[in-house]
Amino acid sequence: MSTGWNPGCLAPVVLRFAAAVLRAAHSAIQACEREEVVLDVNRQGAREPKYYQVKRHLLQLIDTLVPGSLMPTERVLTVELGTSRTTVRQALGELVGEGRLVRRQGSGTYVAEPKIAWPLHLTSFTEQAAAAGYSASTQLLNAVRERATEDIAARLSIKPAAATYCIERLRLVDGTPMAVETSYLSAARFPGLIGHLRRTASLYRVLAEVYDTVPVNAEETIETAAASPREAELLNTDTGSPMLILGRHSFDAAGQPVEWVHSWYRGDRYVFVAKLSS
Ligand code: GLP
Repeated sequence: MSTGWNPGCLAPVVLRFAAAVLRAAHSAIQACEREEVVLDVNRQGAREPKYYQVKRHLLQLIDTLVPGSLMPTERVLTVELGTSRTTVRQALGELVGEGRLVRRQGSGTYVAEPKIAWPLHLTSFTEQAAAAGYSASTQLLNAVRERATEDIAARLSIKPAAATYCIERLRLVDGTPMAVETSYLSAARFPGLIGHLRRTASLYRVLAEVYDTVPVNAEETIETAAASPREAELLNTDTGSPMLILGRHSFDAAGQPVEWVHSWYRGDRYVFVAKLSS
């Protein structure tokens, strides 16, 4: 005789129940996440993550302090602002990345010095530093003769695999590392360039004095990237911190390409200024 007990019949019911429980749990998690992430709607009506409200609060505080002032610790801010340490850390991290605060290992977080304004001109790094009242210096990190990739060849108007010089230099102002600069030039056009650069720090000076070449036109691009461990170490910053990369493709009076250069600058320390007129 049948007892009416058929486990097979219950399977769909159990599955539906389990799915409902999962859906409920998922909604609860989403609600919690929303609660954690969105704290407020600002005056413009935009929803603001919690950390961003903390960041705005910290920006107001920074504006009242002089560069070099010590900021309250993460622990103090967590208690004062009644929020989590993760939220405070995220806000502080962004302000460090933007160059408003600096972290000193084992000492604390301080209000940063104002950024250095660096005009964009078709002058050499050496001349530009002098015009701004700084003294420039250069460390030759790497200088090799190598075959041009297709991209470099197209930039320099030479055949792919033709010889180029790849010159990597650390540029410093008043002894502080400012940029890591990698320049590509045609080896056939500028024979012996590396030897000259070992004696004279300014590339543009060598180009003018030895090869009678002056860049008169250039296209300059600016993009962002995260610092690789190498750039970070050379520029005294953290891996992953924001960098500004300037790409310069310069040409002589005859329209021939002179150099293709990319220069990595710390995004938290410099502001590039281009004067535009109509
Ligand atoms: C700037 C430019 C580079 C150029 C360099 C020359 O840094 N971005 O494209 O090669 O100046 O500077 P210097 O003559 O001091 O080597």
